[in-house]
Amino acid sequence: MQVAPFIAYLVAAALFIYGIRRLRTPETARSGNTLAAIGMVIALVATIFVADIDNVLSAGEISVGVVVGSVIGAVAAQRVQMTAMPQMVAAFNGVGGGAAALVAVSEFYRVEALGQGQETLVSAIAVLLSVIIGTVSFAGSIIAFTKLQELALTGSVTFPLQQVVNAAIFLGILLLSANILAGGLVLSPLVSLYLILGASLLLGVLFVIPIGGADMPIVISLLNAFTGLAAAASGFVLSNYALIISGTLVGASGTILTRLMSSALGRPLGKIIFAGIAASGGGQSEQQEDREVNDASAEEVGEYLADEAEKVVIVPGYGLAVAQAQQAMRDLVETLESEGKEVLFGIHPVAGRMPGHMNVLLTEVGIPYEKLYDLEDINPEFDDADAAIIVGANDVVNPSANDPEVESPISGMPVLTVENAEHVIFIKRSLSPGFAGVDNPLFYDTDKTMMLFSDAKQGLQDLNEAVKSG
Ligand code: TAP
Repeated sequence: MQVAPFIAYLVAAALFIYGIRRLRTPETARSGNTLAAIGMVIALVATIFVADIDNVLSAGEISVGVVVGSVIGAVAAQRVQMTAMPQMVAAFNGVGGGAAALVAVSEFYRVEALGQGQETLVSAIAVLLSVIIGTVSFAGSIIAFTKLQELALTGSVTFPLQQVVNAAIFLGILLLSANILAGGLVLSPLVSLYLILGASLLLGVLFVIPIGGADMPIVISLLNAFTGLAAAASGFVLSNYALIISGTLVGASGTILTRLMSSALGRPLGKIIFAGIAASGGGQSEQQEDREVNDASAEEVGEYLADEAEKVVIVPGYGLAVAQAQQAMRDLVETLESEGKEVLFGIHPVAGRMPGHMNVLLTEVGIPYEKLYDLEDINPEFDDADAAIIVGANDVVNPSANDPEVESPISGMPVLTVENAEHVIFIKRSLSPGFAGVDNPLFYDTDKTMMLFSDAKQGLQDLNEAVKSG
């Protein structure tokens, strides 16, 4: 490789790493993102000047690809709702995995079909890894997208001997790969490659269909790590350092995020992948409508907060994000604090629909980051809190997650122990459960819980007015 593109790739890789480092805190996250994007622009421009690419694609053709991809990415990122981010991550992830697999297939085809001689063992293994992991990630991400977008297969789809079938497909992929590495002892290498492609597509689909409920974020993160590994393998195939480094970064960070999320949800990764889970709604009560709740008005709740509550812990969830109620939330916090109340926020690691979702929403409207507490730090605070206000959340505060009698998609997930506060106030529109479909026994604890049935934004605005005049 010429010196100039090599140096440009190194600069790009340094910017990726420095950019990721700056994503660690909300204050520096935006600039970190911008730096990483600049790194990507440098890498793309450098690619145009890599001499041997010219034999395959002209600078003009590469530029057209870059412009088309950039426009689609920019428009999608501008338009996407915060609540639809996981779907977008799944879609982009799938595209990345598919691209890595296609690059590897074309390289394989170039070497094998055009009679340019045998690949080295290392590059053949890199091609195979890129094809297999990239294709599994592509197919799995498409299924994850359809589930999250609620287009199809929303629950957990299982069938008898599912794991045996998956293992048989995986074994078939290994045997076909061995056949290719042995130079096509049984089947021609090209036929084997296409069979591997088909089997990997099937494996990607079968891998994700049994997973549902609260486990979906973990799967997205795992697929993301797969795509990174596939891209890194493609980097080996093309001898492209930027691809190797960026792919490895995605693979490593995706793996760490997967581990963090599976421990936050209290679900070992093996259990998620190999067991699948019962369809959503496992804990749903049949007699939900018949049970009594303490239906409170904004005035009643406002009066209680104004007169009796000194320490308030707020728990935001998905409903806050869909209702775009973050500004109304901030106004309420200001009012409570102006009346001398202590206000803290408890943020569950999977609150909302993406990692860090709530932190971003709240800090964007100027709620100080120091007020946002993680699960393990906020749980002891509920013990002496007068009120826990839960806005558009259910799963993350559902005590049945840790009830051994209830088997549900969130069983074992660590939750915010809001029930330890003196009073619990839910702001949501109805008694319907959340993402995992599990009814919450706290709704029916009429001595402790006040249900303020409302859209989150309207409810917070009404509550703010009520506290002011309370
Ligand atoms: P959920 O348990 O999904 O509860 C959301 C609640 O918001 C619902 O009960 C709904 O009740 C209410 N809601 C919806 N629209 C509303 C509106 N306009 N105003 C007021 N309330 C509204 O949310 P959560 O507690 O944040 O839990 C997150 C769940 O999503 C977890 O199961 C998690 O695993 C999953 N998940 C998380 C991620 C990540 S990484 N964070 C990604 C994918 C999935 P009503 O209909 O009665 O209003």
